[in-house]
Amino acid sequence: TSDFLIAPSILSADFARLGEEVDNVLASGADIVHFDVMDNHFVPNLTVGPMVCEALRKHGVTAPIDVHLMVKPVDRLIGDFIDAGATYITFHPEGSEHIDRSLQLIRDGGCKAGLVFNPATPLSYLDYVMDKVDMVLLMSVNPGFGGQSFIPSTLDKLRQTRQRIDASGRDIRLEVDGGVKVDNIAEIARAGADTFVAGSAIFNACRQQDAHDYDTVLEAF
Ligand code: DX5
Ligand code: ZN
Repeated sequence: TSDFLIAPSILSADFARLGEEVDNVLASGADIVHFDVMDNHFVPNLTVGPMVCEALRKHGVTAPIDVHLMVKPVDRLIGDFIDAGATYITFHPEGSEHIDRSLQLIRDGGCKAGLVFNPATPLSYLDYVMDKVDMVLLMSVNPGFGGQSFIPSTLDKLRQTRQRIDASGRDIRLEVDGGVKVDNIAEIARAGADTFVAGSAIFNACRQQDAHDYDTVLEAF
């Protein structure tokens, strides 16, 4: 697939009006909802869990929900997010004792499965599980917080990942997460990404617009 997807990260949304914020970015052209789950253990921050994912579905969100699990261990939460209406479930290999099993759990639940790579995590985790992966997510910051700067070495890693995906012949999305802005997204796309997470760049900009103009912000992407 060569189509580009924009995935606003709810981490930078106003949690007090989360449903409305998600509705607004989707109505303005965002493609999927990036749902950051942090456990104050795998990463030094704490966010939301399956109940909030389910609440978005009950609120009427029909777009794909891309659940990014920054938790350890991952397996028990996988079932909960399958039940909560996740579309994609991605996890960090460091958060799983049995990576192949975790990927299979996700697929058996009818969701799309992905592996997430921290900036210093090697791509070799893909070696024996490429056939069970529907998405590769490269972190372009160290996970835990929004609003950090894009780490430039991610561009080379993206090019390497793009080669591996193309060589596999499989339909695998290549997503990038962290520090994605209007002024670097073209370069990131040229390096091979097709799915772009943006938290602060989207929600902070929407807040700065006087009229909370989500259309203008999403058009810029
Ligand atoms: C970081 C999260 C990201 C984060 C990105 O741990 O996984 O999804 O929200 O935020 P920005 O786009 O502000 O770098
Ligand atoms: Zn994320």
